[in-house]
Amino acid sequence: MRIGPFALRNKVFVAPMAGVTDRPFRQLCKRLGAGYAVSEMAASNPKLWASVKTSRRIDHEGEMEPKAVQIAGADPRMMAEAARFNVDRGAQIIDINMGCPAKKVCNAWSGSALMGDEALALAIVDAVASAVQVPVTVKMRTGPSPSRRNAVRLARDFERAGAAMITVHGRTRACAYGGQAEYGTIADVKAAVSVPVVANGDIDGPHKALAVLRITGADAVMIGRAAQGRPWIFREIAHFLETGALLAPPDAAELRAVLSDHLLDHYAFNGEFTGVRTARKHVGWYLRAMIGRQADAGRARAFLDRFNRLECPEQQLDAVDRFLAEVLTPDRDDRADAASCGEAANDKLFRWSHLA
Ligand SMILES: Cc1cc2nc3c(=O)[nH]c(=O)nc-3n(C[C@H](O)[C@H](O)[C@H](O)COP(=O)(O)O)c2cc1C
Repeated sequence: MRIGPFALRNKVFVAPMAGVTDRPFRQLCKRLGAGYAVSEMAASNPKLWASVKTSRRIDHEGEMEPKAVQIAGADPRMMAEAARFNVDRGAQIIDINMGCPAKKVCNAWSGSALMGDEALALAIVDAVASAVQVPVTVKMRTGPSPSRRNAVRLARDFERAGAAMITVHGRTRACAYGGQAEYGTIADVKAAVSVPVVANGDIDGPHKALAVLRITGADAVMIGRAAQGRPWIFREIAHFLETGALLAPPDAAELRAVLSDHLLDHYAFNGEFTGVRTARKHVGWYLRAMIGRQADAGRARAFLDRFNRLECPEQQLDAVDRFLAEVLTPDRDDRADAASCGEAANDKLFRWSHLA
């Protein structure tokens, strides 16, 4: 799988998620098997480039290549300028956001709202592709609404305007995150263009990834929410696609190391004040991803109540490590079972020693 000159190591990508896929999280996902990651969307409005939020979003220092920056906006000239600005700062791929349904983004006629104005959407891709020498990609939905699925027409136009890859989330803008993603439109987009197409939406494990690749014929899959608290999902999917076998989930020692490394990098990148606050949601996701049973969920909730009141990195790190040491009892036989029986066996991996 290639994007322009960049050969990617596999076809399992991390979705851009504002407030989630900051540099530390992208790095972690790449280290744990993701073939490609795009930054959270960065505003195209130059007035915002110096803000703490945007400057963090466009910081790629030390990130594994290729470094891809997503830009959001509705003005072709401003978007072209933003693309140039980011390329000057090291971006090797520019992705255009036409997928975000958030009101804050769509009210300004950007994100997925652009799909409702095809001429403007095309003018943006045209302007950005003409402004920079690096590959320009587009991430979109299937259309503005179920009665107007225009992804195929737009994809053809975008390809002609110079887009090097198109990612499609299998929902319309009007659907937001409701219902199930549909993959028929993604298959139609794949059949209509010759640039790589990436399928996105509701992919939560190896079997689903394989099914979506088969249904759509897409060149790659992109995973968003299922990676929250589960960054090792990328190697699980990549391994399954490559070998047909399920990889055992991380053992207790690796889980503790992953969380601790992630938190340390998270504080270093976001600063202590913001880092401590934003670490809370990541830790919540990790616990949710590890815990299958209702009783375990109650125990984790009690831990999170205490954890969310902690105010400094050292306390958070210590609390997480102690909690995991206390509740995760790795069992080699269970790991072997899990590898042979599949994802359903993951629950068995974690023996909660103090549960009734
Ligand atoms: C918290 C959150 C933030 C998101 N931010 C962005 C974003 O900045 N840019 C974008 O193109 N899509 C964004 N998305 C959409 C995701 O990239 C993805 O298309 C969507 O979540 C569907 O994939 P999934 O079912 O694997 O989560 C966001 C989604 C979530 C849940």
